[in-house]
Amino acid sequence: MTDSMQMTFYEEVGGHDTFVRLVDAFYRGVADDEVLRPMYPEEDLGPAAERLTLFLEQYWGGPTTYSERRGHPRLRMRHMPFHVNPDARDRWLQHMRAAVDELGLPPLHEATLWDYLQRAAHAMVNTFEPAGIGPERPAAASSLPVHPEATKESS
Ligand code: HEM
Repeated sequence: MTDSMQMTFYEEVGGHDTFVRLVDAFYRGVADDEVLRPMYPEEDLGPAAERLTLFLEQYWGGPTTYSERRGHPRLRMRHMPFHVNPDARDRWLQHMRAAVDELGLPPLHEATLWDYLQRAAHAMVNTFEPAGIGPERPAAASSLPVHPEATKESS
């Protein structure tokens, strides 16, 4: 018999299936999000979904496949190329909230998971600029020009 004291959070919430369901539901939200979807460099969101699944599984005491494949997570650093402002964070959290709700976890487990996701999302914010002004993201057509040259075309 399994001693419940020895169980990881990963096991307690249902293991691999639970994390796959969580991340699948989350990416269904991202796929329709006009701000988040263009941030993902790959056309297929499948590989990004797999990386997030593996990371969350590892974080909660499941298999360490994430680090075997990707090395140390260094999540803040890995998000630097992306424009993670409060709007992006709130959208990310909105889709994650809906995904957590779909799991129907017991309240304590749900609170533990949600608390972590909120803190992690707040920690990932790397700019307070509106989209188009931050690092390494080409200015979108609707954003303010970054260089004076950017306005020349229309003049
Ligand atoms: C706050 C808003 C966030 C935005 C807008 C965002 C956006 C992104 C984007 C665009 C990528 C690149 C796609 C990819 O290579 O997988 C990415 C990767 C990733 N994100 Fe986020 N993310 C956010 C928060 C988080 C949080 C809170 C976590 C963890 C709890 C997380 C975990 C990851 C992981 C594990 C990867 C893959 C890293 C790798 O191995 O290359 N992200 N994210």
